Amino acid sequence: MQSLHRIILLVAAAVSLLLAAGTYLLFSGFGDHMMQKAAFAQGRIVSSLTFSNMFQLMSQGWNREQVVNFTRGATDALAGSPLRIEFHRAEAVNRDYGEVAQPAPDTALADALRTGRAKEIVLPGGGRYIQPLVASETCLGCHPRARKGEMLGAITVEAKYDKFIDDTRKLLMIILLVMTPVPFLAAMAVVIYLDRRMQRFVGQIDAAMLASGSAAPDFSGVDPHCAELDTVLDRFKRLAGRGG
Ligand code: HEC
Repeated sequence: MQSLHRIILLVAAAVSLLLAAGTYLLFSGFGDHMMQKAAFAQGRIVSSLTFSNMFQLMSQGWNREQVVNFTRGATDALAGSPLRIEFHRAEAVNRDYGEVAQPAPDTALADALRTGRAKEIVLPGGGRYIQPLVASETCLGCHPRARKGEMLGAITVEAKYDKFIDDTRKLLMIILLVMTPVPFLAAMAVVIYLDRRMQRFVGQIDAAMLASGSAAPDFSGVDPHCAELDTVLDRFKRLAGRGG
């Protein structure tokens, strides 16, 4: 025979576990997705800020050493933060100012330099944002051998928030560990409460039957304070009425 208590407890346990697993999965998926969105938003801001600074410097007519100092300064400023910034100097700048040593562009960067469109690359726990720098009319005064619309370079901003995600995940685990048993404990309390009610009801029935001896028992003193047990009591009363 199935005990009602066991069913209640089993359902509560299943719901607790499902909720915990669901919350965890939801967070894992959403967390990564949100961090990626944040990474791209930040990449957009940082690259345009960086370029406007760079443009200020350029407008004052800078040389290679200043370029190097600027890029180093920008990179150092972000050291220890989840952001990393990289500069790429395109072929069109080399024509006027000479080549510099730099790593060959990877596929994503090459793609951005070819299309002239900003690129967003999803990374685990973050993202990479590539902002190509297109030559406009303003640029040609100092980059005379570049053509309008040609790429002069690109700024890449990489943001990785794995550490934040890991920290948040740990916190979530703790919260879930504390919260998961709550529905189960609540069900347990209900079970204990119902059990008491039931015991009391059975006790009152027993007492009424004992008090009546061999006569029809009088259940009028029994009050279970519970609609379900009231229906049962009603049957007892009818049964007693039939006998007596
Ligand atoms: C007032 C002059 C001036 C103007 C205007 C100018 N630049 Fe430059 N830019 C320079 C000089 C000078 C250098 C190279 C310095 C060197 O390497 O010796 C340079 C270098 C660059 C570089 C390479 C930086 C690196 O990392 O080596 C990029 C990219 C660039 N310019 C983009 C642009 C764009 C885009 C515009 C227009 C929106 C522009 N520049 C307008 C002067 C200018």
